[in-house]
Amino acid sequence: MTTPHPQALISESLRADFPILEQKMHDKPLVYLDSAASAQKPQVVIDSLSGFYETGYANIHRGVYKLSQDATEAFEHARNTVRDFIGAAEARELIFTRGTTEAINLVAQTYGRSALGPGDEILITEMEHHSNIVPWQILCEQTGAKLVVGLMDDTGTLLLENFAELINARTKLVAVSHVSNALGTINPVREIIELAHAQNIPVLLDGAQAAPHMPIDVQALDVDFYTFSGHKVYGPTGIGVLYGKAALLEAMPPYQGGGDMILSVTFEKTEYNEIPHKFEAGTPNIAGVIGLGAALEYLQGIGMDRIAAHEAALLSYATEKLEEIPQVTIIGTAKEKAGVISFAVEGIHPHDLGTIFDMDGVAIRAGHHCAQPVMEHFGVPATARASFGLYNNFEDVDMLVQTIQHAMEVFS
Ligand code: ALA
Repeated sequence: MTTPHPQALISESLRADFPILEQKMHDKPLVYLDSAASAQKPQVVIDSLSGFYETGYANIHRGVYKLSQDATEAFEHARNTVRDFIGAAEARELIFTRGTTEAINLVAQTYGRSALGPGDEILITEMEHHSNIVPWQILCEQTGAKLVVGLMDDTGTLLLENFAELINARTKLVAVSHVSNALGTINPVREIIELAHAQNIPVLLDGAQAAPHMPIDVQALDVDFYTFSGHKVYGPTGIGVLYGKAALLEAMPPYQGGGDMILSVTFEKTEYNEIPHKFEAGTPNIAGVIGLGAALEYLQGIGMDRIAAHEAALLSYATEKLEEIPQVTIIGTAKEKAGVISFAVEGIHPHDLGTIFDMDGVAIRAGHHCAQPVMEHFGVPATARASFGLYNNFEDVDMLVQTIQHAMEVFS
């Protein structure tokens, strides 16, 4: 099979949109292969942040003056961009949070605390990130509910039959990663949602590793809650999104109390604001929201289908190349994967690999990837992980391979 050149999929000129990629690290050109941890920022996002602070900054939803009204408009425009990006029916179904982690905690502490009691169950999978495990464990401690875990096989594929068997009358929520951050597995989320909905159980998808890599359509999925982070979709840090179906959000109690989430306050009684404001107490990360909107518009301009195709080509090229090295084991070989490749090199600890990679200017992540149960499943303390963004090209994959070879020479 001849490998398509990446320029056929994503133009090399897009790389120039990311000024950081011009940098050298230890006098070597930077090869950034850690987008699953956080994606680099295109100039339009950087400009939107500085432009907002230079000429458009004011608090929102409060001012009677033009600057504040314009800022409010820019903020709500970004909410509409998010609506468009994930195909939500209405902008009020989108709540801005600090990130995926806060979005999941919000659902646990509002929906979870009001809907779950002793003996109820929350069903997750073995391949979750800690942020889709620990909030539910806290909820279980608070309510007496139980955390139930669906298993995966040794390729990192969810065992769907086992998962289906775990859904029962006590299950009150299913919470699953759309894409595993440690393995790259794309979960069969349509099937999961159908299984859960057949028993009227709502589903939360942790989309932190999916939103940067593929088109998302929450209405087509019929998912109840969807979460993702700004910094992984080429936007700023400290901003993220919780999508929830309007009826669910309306029925949920508020998360935090404070300004903006109220309609009226007396010492006797507070009337809460409409959604989404009911869940956005206090002055939000206004610049973060505006930067996120700019990032999503940038991605829409390229096309998520194109990005997905580009990253799929990189993944298959990288998989082919790593499989040619006998000392390398790929961890996570599910059929459906996004642009994440975890691996081990015989005789070299992932952290040592990470150090050699760094000296060669190649940024990868080494560690447990905040998914310790995944490491336990595969019997490893950590893995090395390369992950792709829209700016990566085939030369970056060649550098990955060269650096593994370099590390093997150093440790031989
Ligand atoms: N969750 C991020 C990762 O997978 C930080 O690296």
